[in-house]
Amino acid sequence: MTARERIAGNVAGYVDDRTGAAKWMKKNLTKVFPDHWSFLLGEICLYSFVILLLSGTFLTFWFDPSMKEVVYDGSYEPLKGLEMSAAYASTLDISFEVRGGLLMRQIHHWAALIFMVGIVVHLLRVYFTGAFRKPREFNWIIGVGLLTLGIVEGFLGYSLPDDLLSGTGIRIAEAIIQALPVVGSYLAFFAFGGAFPGEAFIPRIYTVHVLLLPGIFLALITVHLMLVWYQKHTQFPGPGRTEKNVVGYPLMPVYMAKAGGFFFIVFGVTAFLGAVASINPIWLYGPYTPGQISAGSQPDWYMGWLDGLVRMAPPLETHAFGYTVSWNILIPGLILPGIMFTGLALYPFIESWATGDKREHHLLDRPRNAPNRTAIGAMALTFTLVSLLNGGNDIIATTFDLTINQMMWFSRIGVIVLPPIAFVVTKRLCLSLQRADRDLVLHGRETGRLVRMPSGEFVEVHEPISAEKAWLLTSHEQLAPLELPEHDTAGVRRPGAIKNKIRNRISRANAVAVPKATATERRELEGHH
Ligand code: HEM
Repeated sequence: MTARERIAGNVAGYVDDRTGAAKWMKKNLTKVFPDHWSFLLGEICLYSFVILLLSGTFLTFWFDPSMKEVVYDGSYEPLKGLEMSAAYASTLDISFEVRGGLLMRQIHHWAALIFMVGIVVHLLRVYFTGAFRKPREFNWIIGVGLLTLGIVEGFLGYSLPDDLLSGTGIRIAEAIIQALPVVGSYLAFFAFGGAFPGEAFIPRIYTVHVLLLPGIFLALITVHLMLVWYQKHTQFPGPGRTEKNVVGYPLMPVYMAKAGGFFFIVFGVTAFLGAVASINPIWLYGPYTPGQISAGSQPDWYMGWLDGLVRMAPPLETHAFGYTVSWNILIPGLILPGIMFTGLALYPFIESWATGDKREHHLLDRPRNAPNRTAIGAMALTFTLVSLLNGGNDIIATTFDLTINQMMWFSRIGVIVLPPIAFVVTKRLCLSLQRADRDLVLHGRETGRLVRMPSGEFVEVHEPISAEKAWLLTSHEQLAPLELPEHDTAGVRRPGAIKNKIRNRISRANAVAVPKATATERRELEGHH
C-alpha cells in the first residue's frame, strides 16, 4: 500500500466511523446509468443553475434594489447628470465601475438563457421519447413547475435594473394582473403598493428573485434528482436492455469524470459568451419613465410567445355591472397560458387514459413509433413558435420590409391554421418512417448497386441488415386500440357510453400504425433480395 492510499484509507475510515457512510457510498457510487447524449440536457439545466447562483450572488454585492431617485455621476458620459432610480444607477455601476462586473452581469444573463433553453429541450426529449410515463409522472409535474418558475424567475431578473425595457415589461405584467375580472385592479394595487410604477415593486421582486424562488428551485431540483435516482433512468432499447435492467456505466468513476468535465464545458461556454457577446446593454435603453417606450422592445425569448399572443389579440372588451373585462389581455395573458400549462402537466395522465396503458415503462420510444404523441408535440411547438414570431413582430416587420398588420394577420391566422397542419404532416411523416423501417427489415438496405437482369430489367441490389438492427426496428410494442363497450349484453346503451365512445375514438387514432415486420414475414422473404 502506498503512503497516499494509506492516508486516503485513514481519512475514509475516520469519516465512516462517525457517519456510517461507507455502506451507503458503496451501494450508490457503483449505481449504473445508461448513456445517451440526450441525457446530458438535464445536466445542462443543473449546471447553468449553479452558474446562476454563483454569478447572481456576486451581483447582489453591488445591486441596490431601491427606487430612491439619484443623479447619475458615473463614468458613462451620455447618462451623466440624469435622474434615475438607485436600482438603475447601481446596475450601471456594476457594468462600468465594478471590476469584472459587466462580465458577471453578462454571464448571469447568458446562463439564464441557456438554463431556459436547457429546460425546454430537456422537456422535449422527455416528451418525445415518452420518458414521462409511469412511474415518472410526478417528476414530469415537478418539471412543469420548474419550467413555470424559470419563466417567472427570468422575467423578474430582467425587470430588476429598472431600465426602459424592463419597465415596459413590468407595465405589461401589471396589465395582465389587472385583467383578472373583479379582483385584478385590487391585486395590482396590492402588488405595486399603490399606483404604477410606485416605489415598492422592485424591492419586492428583488426578494422574490434572490431568495424565495431560488429556494423553491433548490428544493424542487433536489426532489427531481432524487426521483431520477430512486426510479432509475430510462434507456433507449438496445441489445441486452429490458424493462427490468439498466445497461450503462457506473457513477464512480465514469459519470463523476464525465459530469465534472461537462460542468466545466457548460461554464466555459457561458463565460465565453459573457465575455464576447453583449447582452442587455441597459445603458443604451436609459432609465424607465412610464411616459416613454423604446422601439423594438423585446422580452427574453422564453417570454416572447406570451408577448406575441398578447400582441395578436383583437381589441375585445366588455363592460358590465360597473366592471370592465379586457378579453384581449385576459385570454392571451392568462387563460391560454393556463390551459397550455395545465394540459402540459396533465399530459401523462391524458395519454394513459386514452391508451388504457397503465404499465411501467423504462424503455424509451422512438418518436416515430408514437405518431399521435409526436404529432401533438409538433402541434404545440408550432403554436408556440408562431406566437413567439409575433412577439418580435416589429423587428421582423422592419427587417423584412413588412407592415405590422401583415405580421399580425399572419400570426392571427397562422396560430389557428398551422398547428393542425403540423399535426397531420407529422403524423404522416411518422407513419412513412415506420413504413421505411418495415421495408428495411423485410428487404434490407439499398446498396445503390444496379444490376441489369437478362430480361433487360434494372433492379437495385438490397443487402440484409444485421439481426441486431432488425431487432431494434421491431422490438417496440404496437398497442391495439381500446374496445370499450357502449352497449350491454342486451343491446342497451350503458351508462358512460358517450365517454367510452370518445375514448375508443381517441384510442383508435392513437393506435394507427404501419404493422411492424414479423419474423415469419422476414423468413419468407429471405433470399429474395
Ligand atoms: C431546473 C430544471 C431542471 C433540471 C435541473 C433537471 C434535471 C434533470 C436531470 C439531471 C435528469 C437526469 C438526466 C436527463 O434525463 O436529462 C432529469 C431527468 C428527468 N427530468 Fe428533468 N430537469 C429540469 C426540468 C425538467 C422539466 C421542465 C421536465 C418536464 C416537464 C423534466 C422532466 C424530467 C423527467 C421525466 C426525467 C426522467 C427522465 C428519464 O428517466 O428518462 N425535467 N432532469
